[in-house]
Amino acid sequence: MKILITGGAGFIGGNFAHMMVNRYPEDQIVVLDLLTYAGNLETLDPVMGKENFSFVKGDICDREFIEDLFAKEQFDIVVNFAAESHVDRSIEDPGIFLRTNIMGVQVLMDACRKYGVKRFHQVSTDEVYGDLPLDRPDLLFHEDTPIHTSSPYSASKAAADLLVLAYHRTYGLGVTISRCSNNYGPYHFPEKLIPLVISRALADESIPVYGEGANVRDWLYVTDHCSAIDLIIRNGRDGEVYNIGGHNEKSNLDVVKTILKALGKSEDLITFVKDRPGHDLRYAMDPEKIENELGWVPEYRFEEGIQKTIRWYLDNRDWWTHIVNGEYRNYYERMYADR
Ligand code: NAD
Ligand code: DAU
Repeated sequence: MKILITGGAGFIGGNFAHMMVNRYPEDQIVVLDLLTYAGNLETLDPVMGKENFSFVKGDICDREFIEDLFAKEQFDIVVNFAAESHVDRSIEDPGIFLRTNIMGVQVLMDACRKYGVKRFHQVSTDEVYGDLPLDRPDLLFHEDTPIHTSSPYSASKAAADLLVLAYHRTYGLGVTISRCSNNYGPYHFPEKLIPLVISRALADESIPVYGEGANVRDWLYVTDHCSAIDLIIRNGRDGEVYNIGGHNEKSNLDVVKTILKALGKSEDLITFVKDRPGHDLRYAMDPEKIENELGWVPEYRFEEGIQKTIRWYLDNRDWWTHIVNGEYRNYYERMYADR
């Protein structure tokens, strides 16, 4: 089989590419990525040069380029990770989120139709369901929970999900969608909470916690997300949505304190800053469908996964210091100056 992974130089797509190249030596794995600020070729170092792997630089919104690539490669499966993924950036500048996260998906699906791709898999997010109250721990997101978005990012991902389902119903395109909770692990770009806390704590810099740090996220170790997607593209039912999550709910403050403790750093580094506008209170997934239908079982609890993640950042300083010492400094100053 020939599998296209878009956005494979990013955090989750990169981890997925590593897994697929090593798990299926008989398959051809092609990564396509525009290498935006979030894409990093160093993330693909572990697979670069392997016989069943190749990398192409390009834009999922560039119709001519995508059609040429699909005509040449004749992919069997397309897994779309390519996206603008950071909520705070979507609040600052929504336009690029609509272009990449919606129009890019249309371009990819048109090419799938034209060149007979059997399965288009859209990597989506729990954020399409909006948020849950903090005082109702009994409530979870199910696949039929209504779409109810809060940020330009989540609205763009929800729009894409609807378009994917429309292409299935109208044109009969083979599709699946996965909606996952917050990921963490190796190769996570340090604008996101967990790698931001690790990298700043190691430099003894202040840790910005939005609001009171009470918001809750449902954390999943990245390779558990990747193994779920692998099951869905092989055995998932056409036209279906699958929720992915491991029941690892933590408040942001708990996450930050856990990391500071593991690194032997003082909680005095914590600085409460102005809240994110429209900040979702709590996400929590019900993964029963993928567990029952496809037999997916996550390997890591948060307590183990976070220690593994911290170890990775300690052992791979080059990967993230290249990022935080570059253009990222301007981003941080711009984003946090008024908080
Ligand atoms: P990321 O920002 O780390 O990676 C995105 C990748 O897409 C980058 O390599 C970037 O260069 C590439 N890209 C952006 N625009 C492109 C374009 N026009 N053409 C080609 N490539 C382009 O994101 P991530 O955290 O790895 O998320 C991957 C996917 O998973 C996204 O669709 C996101 O919505 C979804 N998701 C993320 C999480 C999470 O916790 N990070 C959870 C659930 C779902
Ligand atoms: O739930 C899945 C989503 O998880 C994905 O769809 C998104 O692509 C991904 O970025 C992530 O979104 P979040 O907004 O939840 O992740 P982030 O790491 O930006 O923030 C996690 C929580 O931490 C959130 O409640 C905001 C808070 N936060 C974040 C940053 C960057 C802080 O308190 N301080 C910070 O500096």
